[in-house]
Amino acid sequence: MSNLKKIAILTSGGDAPGLNACIRAVVRTSIFHKLDVIGIHRGYEGMIDGDFFKMDATTVSNIIQRGGTILKSSRSERFKTPEGRELAYRQLKKEEIEAIILIGGDGSLAGSKAFTSTYNIPWIGIPKTIDNDIIGTDFTIGYDTATNTAMEAIDKIRDTAESHNRIYFVEVMGRDSGFIAYKTGISVGAEAIYIPETKTDLQRLFSIFEKGWNRKKNSLIVVVAEGNEVGGAFKISEKVKEKFPEYDMAVCILGHIQRGGSPSCSDRVLASKLGVSAINALLKGEKNIMIGEIKGDIIYTPLEKITKKHLEITPAMNELINVLSN
Ligand code: F6P
Repeated sequence: MSNLKKIAILTSGGDAPGLNACIRAVVRTSIFHKLDVIGIHRGYEGMIDGDFFKMDATTVSNIIQRGGTILKSSRSERFKTPEGRELAYRQLKKEEIEAIILIGGDGSLAGSKAFTSTYNIPWIGIPKTIDNDIIGTDFTIGYDTATNTAMEAIDKIRDTAESHNRIYFVEVMGRDSGFIAYKTGISVGAEAIYIPETKTDLQRLFSIFEKGWNRKKNSLIVVVAEGNEVGGAFKISEKVKEKFPEYDMAVCILGHIQRGGSPSCSDRVLASKLGVSAINALLKGEKNIMIGEIKGDIIYTPLEKITKKHLEITPAMNELINVLSN
């Protein structure tokens, strides 16, 4: 039996669809087990400032379907410093908070690692980011919704591209990660996909034009992750335009629409499972771990082992792009 009485929850870093579903799961599971739950506003910034409030079942009613985060979020420079973390520790002690549930991406989880290496407050991380670039879980909360949002947007772009015999360079999010670009690119039948993890081979794209692409097709979609080595969709389009000025080309940056909106069914279920599992882990005496799901099983990974996950393009994945865009 656990002696825990009071825990706190926060969301940190860039928001992602499914955060509210996860907050709801954490709060409802805590209440079920008679734990008091404190909400921390504005991520680590709110932790440092003591921006706390008591949560109950009504605080989280009717939020499972909502995008954003009712707790608000931030990227905190102060928490990266030992002084900032000490201020946060003092605030948590003052409020008699005995454990933390952090819903965050790789940057926020690095903050958790730094905090727990100095202070003894049990800490459970839950992975969220539309980028899906965290080890210890097959999927992060928000990735599925973001790919569906990007796919729906690019389907619409395909309609107009087809009407005008136009080439579109569509930029999706992913500062260091190609997961959104790869999955979305396959789902929209993109003719080329450029991601940060691999070298940008423009020759493949050029050869499509050299063969005279418009004899076979009326539109062409190139999906580019924002962090690709050439520097995003505008840069790639400029290089293509230089060589093939005769074609009609346009750029569309999808941007932050990928971070908003109602979470997909898969994200709501994942967020709910990870939220319940986080509290169960605390009650079993676990601490300083991240909860993930791998092949349907709940997996605990020590915070100190958490790093970025990089997309590896296998020959089979390459074949999918090359053969299907022929
Ligand atoms: O949440 C991850 C991410 O979406 C990255 O793909 C992107 O580069 C970044 O956030 C943008 O963050 P911000 O909106 O805080 O500038």
